[in-house]
This record gives sequence, structure tokens and C-alpha cells, in this order.
Amino acid sequence: MKELEEKIKEYGTVLPGNILKVDAFLNHQVDPQLMLHIGQEFAKLFANEGITKIWTVESSGIAPAVMTGLEMNLPVIFARKHKSLTLNQNMYTADVYSYTKKTTNRISVSKKYVDANDKILMIDDFLANGQAVEGLLEIADQAGVQVAGAGIVIEKSFQPGAGELKERGIRVESLARIQSLSDNKVEFVKD
Ligand code: G4P
Ligand code: NA
Ligand code: NA
Repeated sequence: MKELEEKIKEYGTVLPGNILKVDAFLNHQVDPQLMLHIGQEFAKLFANEGITKIWTVESSGIAPAVMTGLEMNLPVIFARKHKSLTLNQNMYTADVYSYTKKTTNRISVSKKYVDANDKILMIDDFLANGQAVEGLLEIADQAGVQVAGAGIVIEKSFQPGAGELKERGIRVESLARIQSLSDNKVEFVKD
């Protein structure tokens, strides 16, 4: 997506450890026009799939997920993150390890908002190691719902998440794909 790549080039900065900082429009300050266009793009890519709900994980997935839900006229569920390991009977849960932050979060989705006939679309801001999406897939599996695929705003294609999901037969659509962040330079995948 051209507009997104331009934003990344203009406002993105590279931090040590291959981290792309996009606080200017996605992870702290949010650009609503850009989010709307992202939602429109995902809606187009995943049209006619019989999707009934959008799933994401708090917090940075919420903005693009809500815009996708708006465009597709579907409800959006964001899995909640908990540090506590308290079990709750009314929740589906999965443990998500963050390689970047070296912490484990338990994410949960209330059974109240899951229907056995659901077909979900997962949306997230970043796909790096794929742990967040794996967590959502685990919950989808527990709930017995169908999965249409994952819509990712920024894929770090040099990390294993995207490849692993595709290998499992999960459709992954990423609006920007980053080949490398070496030498403080953002290089996109050339198709
Ligand atoms: P994974 O879900 O793909 O496995 O991600 P990973 O463990 O590598 O990263 C953990 C967190 O860091 C995730 O956010 C992920 O979106 C984010 N992240 C990974 N790489 C980058 C990057 O290059 N730039 C930025 N800005 N974020 C990155 P999270 O913990 O779920 O936090 P949030 O959604 O509350 O922001
Ligand atoms: Na995220
Ligand atoms: Na994030």
C-alpha cells in the first residue's frame, strides 16, 4: 500500500534490535485517515469470505481493526491482555510470549462474544514473530470458529511469523512488507 509505505518512509525511525518506531501514526499518535484507508484495503482484500467478526489484540491492533470493522460492517473484538494467571470460566485464553518485550501475556476473549458459526478475520499492527496471531489462532481453535486469515499493517518479512503462518495454510495479507531494517534504513520487499 503506497500511502502506508510513504508514511513509514517519512515518519518511521529504526531503533536498535530491528525495531521500527511508528509512534507518529500507528503506535501512539494515530492517523485516522490512514487507518480508514487501511480498513478499506483489508475490506477489499477479504471481501466475499463470509467473515462475521474482526479479532485483534489490544492495544495497537485496535485502530486498524475498528476501521476494518467499519468498512465491513462487522463487530470488532480485541483480546484483552492480562498479566495475572487467574483463570476465568467465561473466557477463552492463550499465552502469548513477546520476543521483543520478553514477557508473557495471557490474552483472553469472552465466550459471550463468540458464536460457533463465526468466521473471523485477524487484524494486527505488526507481524514479527507471529506470537500474537498464534495466540488468536489458539483461541479460534478452542472456540471452534473458522479463520479467514490475517490482515497485517506492517510485516517484518525478515522475521519468521509470516512464513510460519503461510506454511500452516493461513492467508496473510500485509499492507507493508519490510525486507530489512539494517543500517537504520527501511527496505521494503520488492515484489
Ligand atoms: P509477534 O506478535 O509478531 O510475535 O511480535 P513480537 O513478540 O516480536 O513483538 C511483541 C510486541 O512488539 C507486539 O506488540 C508487536 O506488535 C511489537 N513489535 C514487534 N516488532 C515491532 C517493530 O518493529 N516496531 C513496533 N513498533 N512494534 C513491534 P504488543 O506487545 O502486542 O503491543 P501493543 O499492541 O500494545 O503495541
Ligand atoms: Na500489536
Ligand atoms: Na505493538
